[in-house]
Amino acid sequence: MKRAAVRIVSHPLVRRDLALLRSRSTPEPLFRELLEEISLFLAYEIARGLPMSKTSVRTPVGRAEGVRLQGEEPAVAAVLRAGLGMVGGVLKLFPRAKVGHIGLYRDPGTLRPVEYYRKLPPGLDRRLVILADPMLATGHSAAMAADILKESGAKNIVLMCLVAAPEGVRTMRRAHPDISITAAALDEKLNSHGYIVPGLGDAGDRLFGTL
Ligand code: URA
Repeated sequence: MKRAAVRIVSHPLVRRDLALLRSRSTPEPLFRELLEEISLFLAYEIARGLPMSKTSVRTPVGRAEGVRLQGEEPAVAAVLRAGLGMVGGVLKLFPRAKVGHIGLYRDPGTLRPVEYYRKLPPGLDRRLVILADPMLATGHSAAMAADILKESGAKNIVLMCLVAAPEGVRTMRRAHPDISITAAALDEKLNSHGYIVPGLGDAGDRLFGTL
């Protein structure tokens, strides 16, 4: 079976932003700004695979051959809450992208994700769908969100995350080998509470000031 590709974006600006995002002394306003910016960089990398068609334009002094993106704008699906922090960066590159939301909580008994909210745009089957979930920890939430997207018609999904743990990559590879993962870093491991080490803590709490 095909294995999902994992692309770690090691551009200097991504690495600079990530170091600041990781720092415990980075305040919320800067954290929000950086998460949006790094998401733009990750979406830029994801966009390399988009199909293009040839076009020709008239410049003020002649004609130029160029390309335009083929097909419909991508959709971005944010896994609540922390995925919300990535949407703005994607929208800067694709202002007409459709935005979906998927709400999942962790059942305290089974420790497995449970869906509590789903609002997705139509036409997912015709678009690249960027699944935005910053922390790929155990991978169970991302895998369930991908199940939801596929149930809703999505056929071409890329998982965009900030930091991935090896456990999460394994889960996604098992559950969705067709989905590639684009991340800013692949970290060492999970701790006993399911946090990524060294990670950056709880991305939702850092984004919304609920620490
Ligand atoms: N979710 C987070 O926000 N951080 C982690 O380290 C793991 C899951």
